Amino acid sequence: MWTFSKLRRRSALKRDDFTRLPRHVAIIMDGNGRWAKKHRLSISTGHRQGTETLREIIRHTSDLGIEALSIYAFSTENWNRSREEVAALMQLILDFFASEIDELDARNVRILILGDKAGLPDKQREVLVQAEDRTCGNTGLKLNIALNYGGRAELARAARELALLVQSGEITPAMIDERAMADHLYTHGQPDVDLLIRTSGEMRLSNFMLYQCAYAEFLFPTVLWPDFTVADYDEALRAYGGRERRFGGRTPR
Ligand code: IPE
Ligand code: IPE
Ligand code: MG
Repeated sequence: MWTFSKLRRRSALKRDDFTRLPRHVAIIMDGNGRWAKKHRLSISTGHRQGTETLREIIRHTSDLGIEALSIYAFSTENWNRSREEVAALMQLILDFFASEIDELDARNVRILILGDKAGLPDKQREVLVQAEDRTCGNTGLKLNIALNYGGRAELARAARELALLVQSGEITPAMIDERAMADHLYTHGQPDVDLLIRTSGEMRLSNFMLYQCAYAEFLFPTVLWPDFTVADYDEALRAYGGRERRFGGRTPR
């Protein structure tokens, strides 16, 4: 498989090099299209190069002992792209799991898919369910991969589930609080997002983890995702460590 060669400073920083690390990092991997255009390569090559970055970032996140990493791989709106591009992205899902699942499992990573798996093609759904099942007992990094994911759809789904519980008499409407909502999201049981990184300089959420990002710190590095290095990641994590988090109060925690 051809990939653009690049020199990366790998795993430069260790856990002890940081004063404070986030428990949960979310990444909107953006800029594959612009990277491909810049290098006069096909869009699918841009996406393929993006998965090289992803592999390095997952490794480093796991090495640092961070609890959860959520990555935005395919939104419910990405179906609006050309048939060729969607097909290339679907193929990449298969290729990514075929090449990475052994290492991820060996690293004790637990894979969880955020999004509507039922709306994906059979082959992709099978591979994803297999990856989730194989790693369900793992206790290391929680790797949330958002595929066919939309934040609003996730909230509507939670509301539907809670409505059914009310209808069946298991809970009363008064029991629907913030905690109950969180318990019905794909990320139930996980901490809120502490740090959200979106590459390529775009400054928007694009329907990603609307509920979980309520008090997240945001970073928007201008680097395109295929060029995002472990060193860039370390810089973002360091910047997070310097942020004063208030959660509406006056005393920084
Ligand atoms: C992000 O890169 C990857 C996916 C949406 C799957 P883009 O393809 O959005 O890259 P740009 O925004 O066109 O540069
Ligand atoms: C968000 O990026 C989705 C993913 C990174 C998977 P997009 O490139 O699709 O978002 P917009 O269209 O620029 O908001
Ligand atoms: Mg984009």
